[in-house]
Amino acid sequence: MIKAIRGTRDLLPPDTALWNFVEAAARDVFHAYNFQEIRTPIFEETQLFARSVGEETDIVSKEMYTWEDRGRGQSEKGQSLTLRPENTAGVVRAYVEHKLWDRGLNKLYYIGPQFRRERPQKGRYRQFYQIGAETIGPSSAGSESPARDAEMLEMLATFLNRLGINDWTLELNSVGCPNDRAVYNEALRKALEPVVDKMCGDCQRRAVTNPVRVFDCKVPEDQPIIEKLPRISQFLDEGCRKHFQEVQEILKAVEVPFTLNERLVRGLDYYTRTAFEFTHGALGAQNAILGGGRYDGLSEALGGPSAPGIGFAIGEDRLVLALKESAEAVARKPDVYIAPFGPGMDREAAKIAHELRRHDVVAELGDESFRLKKSLETASKMNARFALIVAENEVKAGAFALKNMDTGEQVSVPRAELARKIQSSR
Ligand code: HAM
Repeated sequence: MIKAIRGTRDLLPPDTALWNFVEAAARDVFHAYNFQEIRTPIFEETQLFARSVGEETDIVSKEMYTWEDRGRGQSEKGQSLTLRPENTAGVVRAYVEHKLWDRGLNKLYYIGPQFRRERPQKGRYRQFYQIGAETIGPSSAGSESPARDAEMLEMLATFLNRLGINDWTLELNSVGCPNDRAVYNEALRKALEPVVDKMCGDCQRRAVTNPVRVFDCKVPEDQPIIEKLPRISQFLDEGCRKHFQEVQEILKAVEVPFTLNERLVRGLDYYTRTAFEFTHGALGAQNAILGGGRYDGLSEALGGPSAPGIGFAIGEDRLVLALKESAEAVARKPDVYIAPFGPGMDREAAKIAHELRRHDVVAELGDESFRLKKSLETASKMNARFALIVAENEVKAGAFALKNMDTGEQVSVPRAELARKIQSSR
């Protein structure tokens, strides 16, 4: 038997209703903040991710699905292509390619699959889905302003609350400008030198390649050492400090609670200044429901003009996991199961189904070959709220037997009133 690849999965009903619910709410909330949808390709040139996410990150060095495309001629080498591990690089590539700065400030959102070759576990997949958004534009359009950071964070709080997820924590940090980070990295290297041989293998590697990554370490024995390392806040320049302060002030003004976490360094190299994650307790080890931050130098790194930006991506798989308990509430059940009864009744039932569906009644259609008992059993199996019996006598009389599947009560309803009757008891 051929099965889905490890780390990928089929999303099946009724769960897909929950996915649709989450995506519809995202579109709704994001539109209110004037975000518009962008769709970028699922694969891109490998270089795009190397230059934006960073060669030394786990994502680029270990987790990408990369292959060499076939060349055009026999001797021509193919391009190196990669399934996108995230969508910010693609959005900024599109921003530069289509000169989107002509429109001033761009507020773009996306929903779609991403691919990382991580070790699969609950909440971590190799094909996973993100709902993300980016605000990007020239400084003259206000893209650098702390107001943009706060607006985005407030939108996220609104979105999660709208879904009924209230027990989130917003963790906030500033990772400074590239200059601050270079000085900070040097300070970290120095501080790590005398202690690094007591740390885990990963940290020993990180201390050389990318010292800030030691903050990702989860090994308990390493924690006392990590706790004593210098913190980024001591290295922020005046501009970054002020920017971060103002983000916090606006968040307080709009009553979005947050906690400062100086260990929050994020796993992608393009970040500058504000970095954040929303976590959710019920998710266990993979508790980051979303992450994001500023990337003021990314457009330039990809050959574009100066275009400060900020964005986030929500792990949709994790969001749906967090919502799972309320899945029952949003799974759409049919309003009515239409049971044709007797020869020639499929045609009549099809007409009634057409009428009802035009009035937004969710109708499931049975088959005249079924006996009445089988029809009612089928209606009950699919949790239909009503069963509607379409038999010759009913058609002649222009009124149909409507059975409430919860109470068992059955009434005769004139054809013209069926849709209203079914809807009024939703
Ligand atoms: P990220 O932190 O790598 O950031 O991913 C964002 C979210 O995607 C994570 O918080 C998590 O919920 C989800 N996620 C990541 N990997 C997996 C996985 N293997 N399985 C399930 N869910 C996963 C980014 O991707 C940045 N592009 C976010 C961003 C946008 N920053 C600025 N703009």
